[in-house]
Amino acid sequence: MLKFNNFKSQITIESPGRINFIGEHTDYNDGFVLPTAIDKKITFKLKYNDSKNLCNVYSANFKVSFSFDLNHIKISQNEWENYILGVIYEIQQLTDKLKGFDCVFSSDIPVGSGISSSAALECGLAFGLNELFDLGLSKRTIVELSQRAEHNFVGTKCGIMDQYASVMSKKDHVILLDCRSLEHEYIPINIKPYKILLLNTNVAHSLATSEYNTRREECEKGVEIINSKYPDVFTLRDVDEHMLGECIKILPAVIYNRCKYVIEEKSRVLKAVKALKENRLTDFGQLMYNTHEGLSHEYQVSCLELDFLVDYSKSYDTIIGSRMMGGGFGGCTINLIQEDAILDFVKNVSKAYLKKFDIQLTSFEANPREGTSILKNKK
Ligand code: GLA
Repeated sequence: MLKFNNFKSQITIESPGRINFIGEHTDYNDGFVLPTAIDKKITFKLKYNDSKNLCNVYSANFKVSFSFDLNHIKISQNEWENYILGVIYEIQQLTDKLKGFDCVFSSDIPVGSGISSSAALECGLAFGLNELFDLGLSKRTIVELSQRAEHNFVGTKCGIMDQYASVMSKKDHVILLDCRSLEHEYIPINIKPYKILLLNTNVAHSLATSEYNTRREECEKGVEIINSKYPDVFTLRDVDEHMLGECIKILPAVIYNRCKYVIEEKSRVLKAVKALKENRLTDFGQLMYNTHEGLSHEYQVSCLELDFLVDYSKSYDTIIGSRMMGGGFGGCTINLIQEDAILDFVKNVSKAYLKKFDIQLTSFEANPREGTSILKNKK
């Protein structure tokens, strides 16, 4: 059995999770997002094992390992294995340079918390194998193949945000990513005297994957209907509020609401970026609250636990913004809070949350950091 601690790696990689300030469920609609990698990560250790096709992978957190043959990559019954197998499969579509390897990894990213342990797993492995076998893949290719792995092997039709943020982030900056062109701008994140506090509901409602894919389909349906009136519309990026208003009669109410949220969120991100650049942090935070309203009522991807935490934050003057983060149906809220108010707030909100749901809340401060990095490389 492989072990993490005494593993003699040739390559060691750190692959971070991410937060997103604003721009939720916009990536697969060709909109904008504002994420960054944070100081929670998966550490990968990799080495050749001198075999041609045999690979061994060990998860230190779950204390499980599995082995596979590079010539027989297929979807597994064990979901976590598919993140690995999907990456291998997608790499093999691009190159035949992979050979047998051993890999161990250990994570401090809470699973199911909406800070993208999945993308960190996919991208970290792809990044590490790229270095180990000199595959010559660009960072952009690593991002895209990791996204395809999640689509084809895991079955979540995710957008590009998580993988992009995990690989491309820059320390102390956020990325304004245009998910249509994949052009990005790094924006310094100076939010003093505020800190980024994540509250983990510690629930992951089982709806997450199925409802995620349903939202995507609902947006596509909306586009199809709007396109019958505006033939130049191919994604919700092409639709503005006026055009949506003109289609209100031909769109089913649910689809209309989904589209309305996405179209508003698209411009909300740009407003938030302007506010951030002009150091109008209270306006920035208010836009986060507005996003939560839309996600909860129009896009309907929130849940009681997340709504409770966001509502609770509203009674604190020291908190300027709060919202659910990521795909939804559980996971974390992201909060902008004055540093000296954190202790008191966490104590009170944890108590109230426990009383209401009988669930222990967990919390941690998130600090923006650079994307995937190499801790040790081959000599
Ligand atoms: C998940 C997906 C992302 C994105 C968010 C919602 O994290 O992986 O691509 O769609 O949900 O913004």
